[in-house]
Amino acid sequence: MTRGAIIVGASSGIGEALARELADEGYQIGLAARRTERMREIGTALPTKAYVATMDVTDTDDAREGFFELADAMPAVDVVVVSAGVADENYDLEWEVERRTIDVNVRGFTAIATAAMEYFESNPDPASDRDGHLVGISSVAAHFGNGGTASYNASKAYVSRYLEGLRNRQAGSDADVAITTIEPGFVDTDLSYGSFWECSPETAATQIARAIRKEKSHAYVTRRWRLVAWAIAAMPAFLERRLFS
Ligand SMILES: NC(=O)c1ccc[n+]([C@@H]2O[C@H](COP(=O)([O-])OP(=O)(O)OC[C@H]3O[C@@H](n4cnc5c(N)ncnc54)[C@H](OP(=O)(O)O)[C@@H]3O)[C@@H](O)[C@H]2O)c1
Repeated sequence: MTRGAIIVGASSGIGEALARELADEGYQIGLAARRTERMREIGTALPTKAYVATMDVTDTDDAREGFFELADAMPAVDVVVVSAGVADENYDLEWEVERRTIDVNVRGFTAIATAAMEYFESNPDPASDRDGHLVGISSVAAHFGNGGTASYNASKAYVSRYLEGLRNRQAGSDADVAITTIEPGFVDTDLSYGSFWECSPETAATQIARAIRKEKSHAYVTRRWRLVAWAIAAMPAFLERRLFS
């Protein structure tokens, strides 16, 4: 039986590596982002059929329309991964930078997450226990405020909480959609800020694919980043201010 996965934010980094990982598992892949040529090149090298959709998630109506067209073009869509994101340091709190972060990471994320839920709920899969699986790439940054990236960390807290809300919403829903929150630490991509415990996009993709297979609610990538999340939760405010000023 044909399985399909749409990855929004598939033109580089974690999304690109995950496209390869899921294609190796036999999924046909729908790649979506702004850089069409890059996605074509990535798609051509995949072992399964690839579909490419050019979209800017900040143009939310257009992105949602593009998502539905992409889903309709594919024989099956079992998994939707929202990996699109930006992270810019902005100590000066320039509004354009803050707005872009909110536009991509909050508005864009929600536009695609709601489109995916709508798609899964209106296309139940009688052959499967599940009607679909939504995966959101949040961040360990969701667990604390950071002086230089206030909007980024806040946007990732939004993503994690939003997905938690969708999981809780499942209890009252007829459709059976799995919801997975991925919280990576540092991953070696253009977006990354640090080298501490940094893993390759391929390692991140392997661990994300495992979380998808196991239908986990939540996964840290790599797994030892859970220690950081726990340490931050236990940290006194004065120390947190010193560390993240
Ligand atoms: N790298 C890390 O250390 C790290 C840690 C924690 C969480 N994350 C999260 O992981 C996700 C992927 O990031 P990455 O590290 O793989 O960085 P990346 O290589 O820069 O990938 C970002 C992806 O988002 C897409 N994107 C950005 N703006 C977009 C827009 N307006 N419309 C559509 N797509 C857009 C980019 O595609 P186009 O430019 O082609 O549009 C690209 O495919 C992000 O959500 C990020 O917050 C990363």
